[in-house]
Amino acid sequence: MIAIGCDHGGFNLKCAIMKKLDEMGENYKDFGTYSADSCDYPDIAKKACAAIISGECEKGILICGTGIGMSMAANKIHGIRAAHVTDTFSARVTKEHNDANVICLGERITGVEVALECVEAYLKAEFLGGRHKIRIDKLED
Ligand code: RB5
Repeated sequence: MIAIGCDHGGFNLKCAIMKKLDEMGENYKDFGTYSADSCDYPDIAKKACAAIISGECEKGILICGTGIGMSMAANKIHGIRAAHVTDTFSARVTKEHNDANVICLGERITGVEVALECVEAYLKAEFLGGRHKIRIDKLED
């Protein structure tokens, strides 16, 4: 299960990503926001990340205007490794090397087609473990 969430700045991109997830046959849970009305991205990040920490969801996709606020909010939560991505290489490698359990995208920064390719690259990637496991363990010290 994928946790997905956005603020008003990421609402349109979230809708496009959910359509893509439907096409890919991926299960997801939408933690809001549910309209383009103004809201606060930390509130959404906290709800989506709580579902990851509890085990209800395995990974998350968070969207705001830049992707930066969501990544800051998500990375405050112990056990969350959120990567702000704007390209497909980073989207793939952050899973392979960092075992990112959240990616963050910016609707006002990244075009919709690139953002959708980032989502696909992230979801198809596998954590490589080994030396990378030693390194991510040090993040939790
Ligand atoms: C909202 O205007 C905007 O600040 C927010 O979506 C995000 O870009 C914050 O990082």
